[in-house]
Amino acid sequence: VPGALWGARFAGGPSPELARLSRSTHFDWQLAPYDIAGSRAHAKALAAAGYLDDGELEQMLAALDSLLAGVQDGSVAPQESDEDVHGALERELLAIAGSELGGRLRAGRSRNDQIATLIRLYLLDHASVIGRLVVDLVDAIAAQAAAHPDAPMPGRTHLQHAQPILLAHHLLAHAWPLVRDLERLRDWRVRAAVSPYGAGALAGSSLGLDPALVAAELGLAGPAENSIDATAARDVVAEFAFVAAQLGIDLSRFAEDIILWNTREFGFVTLADAFSTGSSIMPQKKNPDIAELARGKAGRLIGNLTGLLATLKGLPLAYNRDLQEDKEPVFDSVETLEVLLPAFTGMVSSLRFDTERMAELAPQGFSLATDVADWLVRQGVPFREAHEVSGSLVRFCEQNGLALDEASDGQLREVSPLLTADVRSILTVEGSIASRNGVGGTATVRVAEQLAALTARVAAL
Ligand code: ARG
Repeated sequence: VPGALWGARFAGGPSPELARLSRSTHFDWQLAPYDIAGSRAHAKALAAAGYLDDGELEQMLAALDSLLAGVQDGSVAPQESDEDVHGALERELLAIAGSELGGRLRAGRSRNDQIATLIRLYLLDHASVIGRLVVDLVDAIAAQAAAHPDAPMPGRTHLQHAQPILLAHHLLAHAWPLVRDLERLRDWRVRAAVSPYGAGALAGSSLGLDPALVAAELGLAGPAENSIDATAARDVVAEFAFVAAQLGIDLSRFAEDIILWNTREFGFVTLADAFSTGSSIMPQKKNPDIAELARGKAGRLIGNLTGLLATLKGLPLAYNRDLQEDKEPVFDSVETLEVLLPAFTGMVSSLRFDTERMAELAPQGFSLATDVADWLVRQGVPFREAHEVSGSLVRFCEQNGLALDEASDGQLREVSPLLTADVRSILTVEGSIASRNGVGGTATVRVAEQLAALTARVAAL
């Protein structure tokens, strides 16, 4: 087959059925610029080892430059007969450089070490893009927190009113997981920035090529230590897919809050028109589709990770063609996040909070009962007893249709002589929030410190 990378030992070309199954250009063509970068580096290694003279190297690099220009302007494209990106690019290179010079480039490398390098280069680039988009989202959350420095809201556990908290505190609780995702991406880079080039098919190169030179040319830290591992491992790809899935989960949990807050029953937020959608039948509808798509796409990102892990499980060393299945899941994870994150950030930036309603609901559901117990502890009462007294007060108020702060002095005394009128001093949302001033707590001063710490952590990335 003209342009094929193999064939001499076969009596004929592949069947159309095999060719159709085998072809990967419809997804791996986006690796073409990285393939050409690898070829440039490899050409230099060939020249350094004496397989290309200075003039040949110059011609080869010029041919690769024009190949890249062709890829970028679309004049170079895969054909029906091409198996993969490597074959398509070699066919085009031979057309530019001639088969004498062009045919020298493949010495000392295999598609196995090539593809393992290219996927790393692709993921490293897109990790930077995704990292910047996540920083934008963290900034948007931080800006909303800064704009609402002391607005209270009901804090929930089990989705039930638990204790009053600051809205800023809750918002920042969605920012910290994203900061850890950014740190995961940073840590992942150390493992990803290793070059499999030079590992050949599996056993290494016999031509005396310098893999450190290739790694440096590609901006990678150095060559892989084991040529089998270099070509067969995909844990770096799976780890990227995990971080992408975790990002999806973090967005999805925030999305779920926004969806709830946006219901008529909660009424905590209003979505900007530009970041919500309508209904084709119900004229009044304004739906939180961005948040719902975030929640939905988290499932897809998890599926990409689990599909890839299933592909890797049980694969014998070294390269197996199954490994071609590593690309579509991570390409999809990258594309999903690169489309989702900007929309999500826009939605968060433009959220309007009904702080009055949140403040009104903050003390409801007896959410200050823990404050009563803590107040008793400060009076010297053992917590076990304090918990009982406060619980009895809740029961009394519930039976009599009162909020905690509506019980009269006499009623307080009736519940327990320990409940003197002084307890009223802490029966406010503001007092409750201010009292939770331990490190990481919801007190206004602590949340302001936390915001500064978050900003510093992001700046240190
Ligand atoms: N297209 C393959 C992949 O994505 C790389 C080519 C290796 N193929 C082979 N038959 N050795 O993994």
